[in-house]
Amino acid sequence: MRIGIIGAGGIANKISQTLRTRWSEMLYAVASRDMDKAREFAERNGFMKAYGSYEELVCDPMVDIVYVATPHSHHYAHAKLALEHGKAVICEKAFTANATEARALINLARSKGLFLMEAMWTRFMPITERLGKVLESGIVGRPRLLHASLCWSMPEIERIRRADLCGGALLDLGIYCLTFADMYMGHDIERITSNVVKGGEDVDWASTTSILYKGGMIANLQCAACCYDKRGVIACENGRIEVDAVNWPKNVKVYDRTGELIDEWGVNEDQVSGYEYEFLAAQEALENGWVEHPKMTHDTTLRMMEIMDSLRKEWGVVYPNDINI
Ligand SMILES: NC(=O)c1ccc[n+]([C@@H]2O[C@H](COP(=O)([O-])OP(=O)(O)OC[C@H]3O[C@@H](n4cnc5c(N)ncnc54)[C@H](OP(=O)(O)O)[C@@H]3O)[C@@H](O)[C@H]2O)c1
Repeated sequence: MRIGIIGAGGIANKISQTLRTRWSEMLYAVASRDMDKAREFAERNGFMKAYGSYEELVCDPMVDIVYVATPHSHHYAHAKLALEHGKAVICEKAFTANATEARALINLARSKGLFLMEAMWTRFMPITERLGKVLESGIVGRPRLLHASLCWSMPEIERIRRADLCGGALLDLGIYCLTFADMYMGHDIERITSNVVKGGEDVDWASTTSILYKGGMIANLQCAACCYDKRGVIACENGRIEVDAVNWPKNVKVYDRTGELIDEWGVNEDQVSGYEYEFLAAQEALENGWVEHPKMTHDTTLRMMEIMDSLRKEWGVVYPNDINI
């Protein structure tokens, strides 16, 4: 699988460093709006090609899949550009600015029979898959309450501060908490309530969201761009599970009802950073001719985007993208 990256920024760099360790043949092309930047990025990370525009990259017939690594505000336009040129797409989280954009991309990909996937890396990690299996085993009983927090202080980062770049904590950090709840509490939601504090350019700076499920479970989620915390806890009928970081889990502990530690695990010995799994999943999908991956389906992406839309609506956080489409 030959990857073409759109946007030579922070996450593109991390992904490239990860893939370079064992999958360097995947690193085919990178495109930046600035040719010098693209060339420097390509040389530093071992790419074969560098392009000074995103349009040139999507026209390269050797590119099998385009990885969209630009701000949330531009995911729709850049993924659309790639799909219209017949490319499969893996697009960074949050998938788009809103559910309308997500639906349009999914419809376009399906109409062309092209693979399209949100790069929500925690869904592909062996460490989180094992957690799911432990819950299914029933050893700690059914989940009743879930807590997930992802707070990272980044008041000076433009794409977090600015409404026109679809800033705020929810799309950048809150999506991890929503994903954590979605993976382990199911999707049968009765009611969602929330609180928000705004910051930056009138975007969500800190928020708490409480999801009541029809099965009588509750997930309490919080995210913020002004402090630090990243833990996840699943309180079950006969014990609890603690995860050190919902965005990048490295350690999971299982306790029984007396508080005794009964299981603990970390990442696979051969894990590089954890980013590799989503790209290996995309490769599996391309090899099989799939338009979506079963671990990150289009319905799941839409469900996440719809929840974030409803929260932003309640909070009065509006992006230019909300009226453009
Ligand atoms: N999975 C993860 O762990 C993780 C971690 C961080 C970020 N992310 C996600 O990755 C995406 C990018 O985040 P990042 O931290 O890599 O951002 P970043 O460092 O700011 O880079 C984004 C890149 O997008 C390109 N771009 C295109 N139009 C732009 C515009 N109008 N303004 C600014 N940049 C523009 C730029 O590339 P050129 O100048 O080269 O064209 C820029 O370098 C976001 O969706 C974010 O949520 C994911």
